[in-house]
Amino acid sequence: MLRLGVNIDHIATVRQARGEKFPEPIAAAHAAILGGADQITLHLREDRRHIQDADVELIRAALDVDMNLEMACTEDMVAFAKKIMPTHVCLVPEKREELTTEGGLDVAGNRDSVKTTIDALKAAGIAVSLFVDPDEQAILAANEVGADMVEIHTGRYANAKGDASVTREFLAIRQAATTAKQLGMRVHAGHGLDYRNVWRIAALPEIEELNIGFSIVSRALFIGLTAAVREMRDAMRHARDVTAQNL
Ligand code: PXP
Repeated sequence: MLRLGVNIDHIATVRQARGEKFPEPIAAAHAAILGGADQITLHLREDRRHIQDADVELIRAALDVDMNLEMACTEDMVAFAKKIMPTHVCLVPEKREELTTEGGLDVAGNRDSVKTTIDALKAAGIAVSLFVDPDEQAILAANEVGADMVEIHTGRYANAKGDASVTREFLAIRQAATTAKQLGMRVHAGHGLDYRNVWRIAALPEIEELNIGFSIVSRALFIGLTAAVREMRDAMRHARDVTAQNL
């Protein structure tokens, strides 16, 4: 079973661009669920550039669907997560000037703060995922600090040009997924996945969940969010059912 988490940050990006009350992330969450989203994913950034605290609170209170809260390893965010109690948290690196999350979490380089954050969240009953590059050392470090899950960063695969580099990046993801699964962690993936590149990742049997935002929200401009989510679900299902058997 491959789950789809729909990241609705960019609905809030549009709202914040005009300082209006619309489009509303909660309306987007409803539409995404109708299209087959298993979960709503939101990144509450330190600079609050798109999703606001109130969006997370409202969606958590109103919708009976899994929530994946992406956040940085800070005490303020841990306190917020404990108030909201999302289904799981995904810890991501954050730099104010970046356009989007640029790389995976440097778990080995920030071992203490990552472990402190994981311990606090797990003590509160929240399962924790770490957003990491498809790199053996990062997977081992994630396991050592006690992560329940890893979300493998698919950005390098999505940006790769030419068959050789696409294949190289894909194989790195496959190897990372295999290692993480063998260590007993659940495996998610995301970043930069779209309707054309999702198939290889969706076909990997180790991967249980994809978190996808930008491509779905962009497609929604033309066909609506419910239909855009449904198309992505269909692409994922096709990859799992058909492609996987022919790999
Ligand atoms: N997963 C994580 C951890 C992310 O930070 C993002 C981007 O916010 C996504 C998934 C979704 O990426 P995209 O918007 O490129 O689909």
